[in-house]
Amino acid sequence: MTHYRITLLPGDGIGPEIMAVAVDVLKVVGNKFDIEFQFQEALIGGAAIDTTGEPLPSATLDMCRHSDAVLLAAIGGYKWDSLPSDLRPEAGLLGLRAGLGLFANLRPAIILPQLIDASTLKRSVVEGVDIMVVRELTGGIYFGKPRGIFATETGEKRGVNTMAYTESEIERIGRVAFEAARKRRGKLCSVDKANVLEVSQLWRDRITQLSPEYPDVELSHMYVDNAAMQLLRAPKQFDTIVTGNLFGDILSDAAAMLTGSIGMLPSASLGASGPGVFEPVHGSAPDIAGQDKANPLAQVLSAAMMLRYSLNQSAAADHIEQGVLQVLQRGDRTGDIMSQGMNLLGCGAMGEALIQALEE
Ligand code: IPM
Ligand code: MG
Repeated sequence: MTHYRITLLPGDGIGPEIMAVAVDVLKVVGNKFDIEFQFQEALIGGAAIDTTGEPLPSATLDMCRHSDAVLLAAIGGYKWDSLPSDLRPEAGLLGLRAGLGLFANLRPAIILPQLIDASTLKRSVVEGVDIMVVRELTGGIYFGKPRGIFATETGEKRGVNTMAYTESEIERIGRVAFEAARKRRGKLCSVDKANVLEVSQLWRDRITQLSPEYPDVELSHMYVDNAAMQLLRAPKQFDTIVTGNLFGDILSDAAAMLTGSIGMLPSASLGASGPGVFEPVHGSAPDIAGQDKANPLAQVLSAAMMLRYSLNQSAAADHIEQGVLQVLQRGDRTGDIMSQGMNLLGCGAMGEALIQALEE
């Protein structure tokens, strides 16, 4: 029996509800595939602020460092929105990414045939979409300095953030993206704003310089505004996208909606070594928290990514993904992916349906 220590970070809002489903699912596949999970839970985000006064207690970061992988649900909520930025729940998430060196964020956006009608876009536009967004996660404007709100000489306030990338930061995310593209359909589109920003010019140059090392990957470049438009106009032109932190944040939400609901999308955040963090792309949805309405499938699919990318248990990952397809095939839907004639389930019932499918 293989043994793994998994840190669970349920966080805020719908986090605890969807995490509970993912843990049940992991237990079931653990039994089936002879994997033993030792789960340990820690505080992050608003839940951590309420208990300890800070969004990322050092005990949480330590526990994550000493685990094989981290499964995170979501952080944030109205309650903490007016706190200063370094004490908000989001600072906990950013601190976790930085603290574990998770520079590479993989966000797959795949349209499942069962959910085509849940997309707001036409069937002909979204059918067959299969995109991997590789987002740089520990640099760019999210972390650049100087940052802050400063008083000018006239007494007026001025807000400042800095978008910066070093060559080595660009190179390491570039390599992850070329490798990902190589395992997919061999097409990589690098997204930047090189027509305006020097940081993007360096980005484009450095990515281009890597290209000869990956002759099997066809590299193209696109400005971010055009990329946003093309994602909605003709998403099937994309295979793998690589981009910086802010552009990746925005484009991955746009890509998510091609698939019907952001409630379906998992992500993996990986560093050069050490545990990865696996979390849904969506947020904590405070408006529906505690109402048993959330879609747990992005969380469950994040657990599958964890099995595949960090724990090397691809058979167990496949089993979970097949189970998700099966419940959808049967017509089970949460509210966010509901369409006519389907069975509307709450978060817990969706979890039970999935477990039943996994045990069959
Ligand atoms: C995401 C989220 C986070 C981000 C927030 C919650 C800080 O939007 O993971 O995409 O901006 O990275
Ligand atoms: Mg985001």
